[in-house]
Amino acid sequence: MSDKHDFPPGFLWGAATAAYQIEGAWDEDGKGESIWDRFVRRPGVIADGTTGDVACDHYRRYAEDVGYMAAMGLNAYRFSIAWPRIFPSGSGRPNQVGLDFYRRLIDDLNRHGITPMATLYHWDLPQALEDRGGWANRDTALRFAEYASYVFHALGNDVPLWATHNEPFIQTFYGYGNGENAPGRRNPWAILPVGHHLLLSHGLAVDAFRAASLKAAQIGMVLIIWPHHPASARPADVRAARRTDGAMHRIFLEPLFRGRYPEDMLRHFARRLMRPPVRPGDMEIISRTIDFLGVNTYTRLVHTADWRDPLTGARLVPARGPTTAMGWEIYPDCIVEALQKVGEYTDLPLYITENGAAFDDVVEPDGSINDAARIDYLRAHIAAARRAINAGIDLRGYFVWSLMDNFEWAQGKAKRFGLIHVDYATQRRTWKASARFFRDVIAESVRS
Ligand code: FCB
Repeated sequence: MSDKHDFPPGFLWGAATAAYQIEGAWDEDGKGESIWDRFVRRPGVIADGTTGDVACDHYRRYAEDVGYMAAMGLNAYRFSIAWPRIFPSGSGRPNQVGLDFYRRLIDDLNRHGITPMATLYHWDLPQALEDRGGWANRDTALRFAEYASYVFHALGNDVPLWATHNEPFIQTFYGYGNGENAPGRRNPWAILPVGHHLLLSHGLAVDAFRAASLKAAQIGMVLIIWPHHPASARPADVRAARRTDGAMHRIFLEPLFRGRYPEDMLRHFARRLMRPPVRPGDMEIISRTIDFLGVNTYTRLVHTADWRDPLTGARLVPARGPTTAMGWEIYPDCIVEALQKVGEYTDLPLYITENGAAFDDVVEPDGSINDAARIDYLRAHIAAARRAINAGIDLRGYFVWSLMDNFEWAQGKAKRFGLIHVDYATQRRTWKASARFFRDVIAESVRS
């Protein structure tokens, strides 16, 4: 595999999105309220004061959007299903109209030869379940398994790749730990219970998936993996980076693949009176065999020891090199290092399920968007993906975050990650130069 675009046959070239970030139609067709619908209405929590109420109006414009995917040559598309569209109050009676939306989307993708990869949970918990304790309540894991089972039976084999969760770390630490994401709780003692219940819900959903005996579908999970580096060779910095790696990665990877929590992190958290509420049998459920793992990676993080941070005793050192509009260092080897990190735990097939960049795009007077910085970012990271394959990693696909500009959580609509520009006033979509670049990469790779 020496040639520049020599990716393995069947390699998936995709783009990724998430329901709340693109769909809009937040209260239509029987959809229930999600924690994000509630959270965005709190004053001051979203940087630019916007919401995902309308977002990209993808709920209505999905066919147009699938058309762009096809024109770009994507052979895969990763999206998420909004739980409250299917079960408006989290459990009980399903809402057929909500399910129908995903049925239409999936049929349209399959008609275009675009492989659907569906994530069951990309952070939009039904508010009714949050009112009963959310992910801090073990019962939510059982409700998730019911929702998963229903969706597997309804859409099953038409979606070859299913993922249970997207980045449980972010839901745990940002949703319940520091409150920057929905549901906006600030309670460090909720962190390990929430993480544990997310993991448990994953395992229960895997059981539901196997029980549905789908012949043409696989199940996996999507983790955030951002390499952690110490700021210096000082032992204190090395230990600090190991702790943050433990909090972000190992407390999820070890339960999933080794059926236990990492000892050093259990000790570390126990000193803060934090512990996961493990019941007999949980770790066996959590570590059920899965079929693939998705890896979301954007950058690396550099840490120095600092005990003013009570949770990890570490502080982020600002990036020295060029960054994206998120302030994230441009570090293409994050792809290789993230995949290698995961490779310490499993030899499952891997996908880069998210990689991409926000930049302050400029719309030229003629309407064009010449996002050269995004092209450079993508080119360098795709080259890193190829290096990973050359190094023997079983990488099966690469998904750009994101298909189009969308609602970037607490950052609102100001941060634009799309290959396609969205004018939120008119919902007009415009291809950025990076979309054409990605189209050409795919065309060359598929031809070779
Ligand atoms: C990831 C999220 C995704 C998007 C990107 C920029 O953490 O999974 O929804 O916000 O970051």
